[in-house]
Amino acid sequence: MKKDSIYLEVKKQLNYSYAPYSKFKTAAIVVTDKGKFAGSNVENASYSLTVCAERCAIFNAIAHGAKEFKKLYLISSSNKLDVVPCGSCLQVMAEFFNPSTPIIVYANNGKVVEYQLKDLLPTSFTKKELNNAKKK
Ligand code: THU
Repeated sequence: MKKDSIYLEVKKQLNYSYAPYSKFKTAAIVVTDKGKFAGSNVENASYSLTVCAERCAIFNAIAHGAKEFKKLYLISSSNKLDVVPCGSCLQVMAEFFNPSTPIIVYANNGKVVEYQLKDLLPTSFTKKELNNAKKK
């Protein structure tokens, strides 16, 4: 697993993380119908404006015309498998992913664990609920 090319690719993307405050670097790659798109966390002196790597990658893909998300890879600067997508990123994934879309998380040293979106977010508020509310 350690030498997977996607592991090396997402690890390389950590170089573009901007995390001067937390020093916790993250990077993500999404695989879509329009190819692969990368993102990294981008922090801000006004802390709450920080954007996580997952949302950066997903928005990058959307901005390039992606419609179908097949997988998301995530890595952090930690050697422990202690990063999972935050609640905000899971909500954005629920907008675009299927419940069974794989979310593959690497520790910096190549340890890997695979989830599906539904494991991390069993239920969510989506356009389906909005459309149901419009029905009489
Ligand atoms: N972070 C991510 O990029 N993805 C996650 O799933 C969790 C947290 C980032 C945000 C912030 O720059 C740093 O990690 C510490 O919270």
